[in-house]
Amino acid sequence: MSNPTLENLQILARESLDSIEASRDADELEMLRVRYLGKKGIVTEQLKLIPTLEPVDRKDFGQSVNSLKQKLNQAIKTRSESLARDAIESQLVSEELDVTLPGRYGTAGSVHPITRTITRMQEIFDGLGFDVAEGPEIEDEFYNFDALNIPAEHPARAMHDTFYVDDSRVLRTHTSPVQIRYMEDHTPPLQVVAPGRVYRCDSDITHTPMFHQIEGLSVGEGVTFGHLKGVLTHFLQAFFEADLKLQFRPSYFPFTEPSAEVDISCVFCGGNGCRVCKQTGWIEILGCGMVHPAVFKHVKIDSEKYTGYAFGLGVERLAMLRYGIDDLRMLFENDVSFLAQFH
Ligand code: DAH
Repeated sequence: MSNPTLENLQILARESLDSIEASRDADELEMLRVRYLGKKGIVTEQLKLIPTLEPVDRKDFGQSVNSLKQKLNQAIKTRSESLARDAIESQLVSEELDVTLPGRYGTAGSVHPITRTITRMQEIFDGLGFDVAEGPEIEDEFYNFDALNIPAEHPARAMHDTFYVDDSRVLRTHTSPVQIRYMEDHTPPLQVVAPGRVYRCDSDITHTPMFHQIEGLSVGEGVTFGHLKGVLTHFLQAFFEADLKLQFRPSYFPFTEPSAEVDISCVFCGGNGCRVCKQTGWIEILGCGMVHPAVFKHVKIDSEKYTGYAFGLGVERLAMLRYGIDDLRMLFENDVSFLAQFH
């Protein structure tokens, strides 16, 4: 600062008040405070110049410098408060919450279509008075074959493409062994379904080495093929929620006599013929029959007194028909975008 005159002091006042007013943030304001009012600040320095003035001028000049100091202090305080208010306001604006926006929800998983299909089947059979049982997936040859009237040299053994665990144990090739285990532990009358995994050494577009079946068994006095027809008709119509027709074709299974394979009228074309039913109007859906006396013999049930029916069906096949899935592999790939459709 040049000469300590009142005139120069006025210029200093204008300049300092202007720059305080124009300061943009707390840091800049603090810099200005130090610059003007700090120990070596421009205004503070003015006081040190008083001794160089004519004695008559000293009082006026001193008072003016002090009043300028007060004004600056006041201006800094005012500016500081207004900057703080601006800061809060712009923070509020930038953090504004739009409560009308849709929420972001966490994604929940869903039950696998196979599990869902099994649950649905169980519910329908539960309504018909069937219990639910399970059996081991590593099974003795006896339960998987012999007790089901499939002796060692029987050609049906070869048809099953069995995985052997060791000399006498296999990965069960069907859920039918649960029939045997259940009849060993229960006395007739009995009604049971047994869902679960089964294994066959087979893998192509329409076969996977592991798949699911559900077995059914009903044993009592006077149980007939007519009961079997009634139960399967009710079950399939309830499962597909459609007034399906059923067709029983004579077939062969070692553990049932007589045996039948059941077709349903095509769920896609209603029986008129389409790609899915290969223009026949019918879709093969399950195997069934009346329990063979040789099977009863293995579990010591009197086949003179009791009769029974059994059936077995593939869960994947029913799930595919029910949900319109045309590639079996989708059920095993666990592609999330596929599974998410089953919420
Ligand atoms: N176990 C047979 C299979 O896996 C299916 C089957 C057919 C089960 C007839 C039965 C039945 O209980 O009576 O091919």
